[in-house]
Amino acid sequence: MERMTDLVVHDAAQVVTPTGGGDGDGSDDELEVIENGAVAIEDGIVVAVGPTTDVTRAHPPENATESVDATGRTVLPGFVDPHTHAVFAGDRVDEFTAKLAGASYQDILEEGGGILRTVRATREAERAELVANLLEHLDTMLAHGTTTVEVKSGYGLDVETELKLLEAIDEAADQHPIDVVPTFMGAHAVPEGADTEEYVDRVIEEQLPAVADAGLAEFCDVFCEAGVFSVSQSRRILEAGQELGLTPKIHAEEFERLGGSQLAADCGAASADHLLQATDEDIEALGEAGVTPVLLPGTAFSLGAPYADAAAFEAADVPVALATDFNPNCFSQSMESVVELACNGMRMTPAAAIRGATSIAARAVDRTDGTGTIREGAPGDLAIATVTNYQHIPYNFGVSNVQTVITDGTVVHR
Ligand code: NIG
Ligand code: FE
Repeated sequence: MERMTDLVVHDAAQVVTPTGGGDGDGSDDELEVIENGAVAIEDGIVVAVGPTTDVTRAHPPENATESVDATGRTVLPGFVDPHTHAVFAGDRVDEFTAKLAGASYQDILEEGGGILRTVRATREAERAELVANLLEHLDTMLAHGTTTVEVKSGYGLDVETELKLLEAIDEAADQHPIDVVPTFMGAHAVPEGADTEEYVDRVIEEQLPAVADAGLAEFCDVFCEAGVFSVSQSRRILEAGQELGLTPKIHAEEFERLGGSQLAADCGAASADHLLQATDEDIEALGEAGVTPVLLPGTAFSLGAPYADAAAFEAADVPVALATDFNPNCFSQSMESVVELACNGMRMTPAAAIRGATSIAARAVDRTDGTGTIREGAPGDLAIATVTNYQHIPYNFGVSNVQTVITDGTVVHR
């Protein structure tokens, strides 16, 4: 029977999709490749995916509101970027140059630069300026195939500015086709002149209740790191957030191995991120607890640090998500670049990198509706690349392979 379809993408060289995304169980996660494939979307939801002949029989492109001839191109789920700090004022390009001359990230932070400098600029900025900045970054993300992105607050470090940031995220999300997932990260750094324990009390007693009241965040994240927040301080914050309905996330084992992975496992965090210093024990704890590890190769790349040990996660059969970590210290909005770094830097296979940037990434932000896959019932979010085989995306690095982007069944970038 023929029906009216909103969008049909047809005659793609390949339609590529993870098979097991969103169910919290990585065991069946393969990358399925449909040669000469097609996808049909109705009311924003995928209603058919398969060989073009089959899909177009039920959903003829000529009867669809819109159709895309994807001859010679590859259709992927839109990328999910599950870790960014994308709302801030200013940049830190001079610190980039200082780091290249040998300054360390922590030296810069201890001298009042780094995060604290972005905090000063962000406190001074009007909300409208922050919204405009974020919208510009969201446009760049979209152009590189991202259709879902997590954005953290954390450049306020006081109740007023943290709320301003979460409101800016909410306002930008309303105006943009990307699905934006908001995270509260008041515990991103200790404000200048503050005592860490007293600041932890303020996060718990002032910031968290105000954020929960305003209903502006889904997750609560903490920078659990030597010289920032200890494991016990991180635990207090994450548990307080959990009581108010915010799911824990954690920056763990980035510069030093402190025990953030074990904490993530104990409190049922959605994800543990960075993990440059994670041990086999940490990986096992995350795997057993169903915490999604998020690797951020752009951060290691821009710090000139060794990459996370992706092979150790692979050996333990714990699938990893990938994210940009876009922030003033790691200035890239592109999940295409992350997939390239995952392969060329961390030596992941193209299939593992694409799953990490789609279905596994969706788990890191608790999206269990099929986000990050192309299957019946999943959101109609697609990225179409000008390549005939998905392996060409990391192979042909340093260029934009993504050409057309679709969110909820509408072409939003071409
Ligand atoms: O994930 N490590 C803490 N937060 C960010 C960096 C933020 C910044 O330097 O502004 C990260 O890398
Ligand atoms: Fe981060």
